[in-house]
Amino acid sequence: MAWPWLLPLGLFFAASVAQAAVVEHTFNVGNLSISQLCEQAMIITAVNGRLPGPTIKVREGDTVVVHLVNESPYNMTIHWHGVFQRGSPWADGPSMVTQCPVKPGCNYTYRFNVTGQEGTLWWHAHISFLRATVYGALVIRPRGGAASYPSSPKPHREEVLLLGEWWNANVYDLERTAFLSGNVTGPANAYTINGKPGDPYSNCSAADQTYKFHVRRNETYLLRIINAALNTPMFLRVANHSFTVVAADAAYTTPYETDVVVVAPGQTVDALMAAAGAAPGRYYMVATPYDSAVGGTPPFNPATARAVVEYAGAAGDETPQLPPPTQNNDTATAFRFLSNLTALVLPGKPTVPLSVDTRMFVTVGLGNGDCQPKQTLCNTTDGTRPRIFSSSMNNASFLLPDAGSPSMLQAHYDGNASGVYTRDFPDRPPVIFDYTADASDTDELKYTTKSTKVRTLRYNETVEMVLQNTRLIAKESHPMHLHGFNFFVLAQGFGNYDEAAAAPGFKFNLVNPQERNTVAVPTGGWAVIRFVANNPGMWFMHCHFDAHLDLGLGMVFEVQDGPTAETSVPPPPLDLPHC
Ligand code: C2O
Repeated sequence: MAWPWLLPLGLFFAASVAQAAVVEHTFNVGNLSISQLCEQAMIITAVNGRLPGPTIKVREGDTVVVHLVNESPYNMTIHWHGVFQRGSPWADGPSMVTQCPVKPGCNYTYRFNVTGQEGTLWWHAHISFLRATVYGALVIRPRGGAASYPSSPKPHREEVLLLGEWWNANVYDLERTAFLSGNVTGPANAYTINGKPGDPYSNCSAADQTYKFHVRRNETYLLRIINAALNTPMFLRVANHSFTVVAADAAYTTPYETDVVVVAPGQTVDALMAAAGAAPGRYYMVATPYDSAVGGTPPFNPATARAVVEYAGAAGDETPQLPPPTQNNDTATAFRFLSNLTALVLPGKPTVPLSVDTRMFVTVGLGNGDCQPKQTLCNTTDGTRPRIFSSSMNNASFLLPDAGSPSMLQAHYDGNASGVYTRDFPDRPPVIFDYTADASDTDELKYTTKSTKVRTLRYNETVEMVLQNTRLIAKESHPMHLHGFNFFVLAQGFGNYDEAAAAPGFKFNLVNPQERNTVAVPTGGWAVIRFVANNPGMWFMHCHFDAHLDLGLGMVFEVQDGPTAETSVPPPPLDLPHC
């Protein structure tokens, strides 16, 4: 065998960097019987009998192949949250947007590359509320492995922390009741860290309902924190420990020191934590739900989830220390964290586009509309149509195409949108009003109707979008997620966005704005984002609160093909499910 230093230098380096691999998994979706909140519960849709589901670990440039085997009684799809899906738009996963669902007893194989992305992403069901139990992490390391992380120190170990919500109920039935009655879902019974609520809940079986994170003194850990909760942003603290944030939504950030991490549903945060306690000990990690609602008061469960950070050598019966409490409505802390992050500008990474082709101003929020005939639980016997909850963007309340029609991507590919969607999603709200004032919460302004509208973009068009929260029903921090792209967050603030004041760039960060796939629009405020539509396909943009998505808080970007085969939507995979 040749000694490495006798090899030509180029070959040596090539051998030290892993070649692109194919990483293959099978996801069997079926039953899992678990004990949760001191009760025995049956999860109807769990992946491979686990909660959370398996972590997919890859390196940048690898190919991911996941065989979905649907052994559950419900239709299923999986979305790879944050993966661009360039050249594989059929694998994105949202039901009826890019595919028809995988029916009970059927299979489908998702295939895609993770190219040009490093950090923490995740996967989840994208149909009904089934992502409450169908979710897991997708960890993308650099090609050169952990030694290539741009920040230091290099972690000794990495730890995935998935924050979730738990209902003592069948979540499929919860969604059906919410949709058919036009109501918001009640709050979760508990919040969880890696599937476990922690010991405030588990007097009955303290040990196995609390997640334990084992550390060694003076080692540094890379925490990959994912908010997989359906409807709730979270604050995360560890007693006596602080964090250095190094990435968010799989985009590196300027290292940011903090004693609290804030993560909205759909978002991820990578943070270094040094086990720097003076002596081996036990410390609580506490996830506190953020209640961003102002004005109206949607139902909210203020409970916390707890895990235990346990040092090697600590006495197992030592009572863990608690971090200082976080107020559930601490908007100031949420805003400080979420608006202070900036990108780590690296050579070769995309930077914010400086010229803009299309400017959109889009209101996001709740409202109401008429009960639809198929929403049987709110129908009245005398034929009148009661007003029910409905949410919208620019007053268009999004409705997925009916099962039975082709998916939106299929209709786009076939060049036949008729009966599936219309191309009239508006660039402005139909009425200009004082969006965040209490006085605006009127029946007239709240009223919206259902439609399936898309905004068509030319290939490579640059879009700037102001996302403006409204006071209708309640102000809330809506986590707005865009499929198929990252965007840059140029500015955020409270109240009404003032185009005149913000106009020629002086409030915008055009140097190192944070790059994200999900932005938590401040409650009663706004955020300005930019992205380049360099990925042909049909890309959902929606609130990552499932309760709001279900009520219509979404729209779709239809991005046209570019000039070459590589910049065009490819034919659908042969095994793509039919409707
Ligand atoms: Cu993570 Cu369309 O969602």
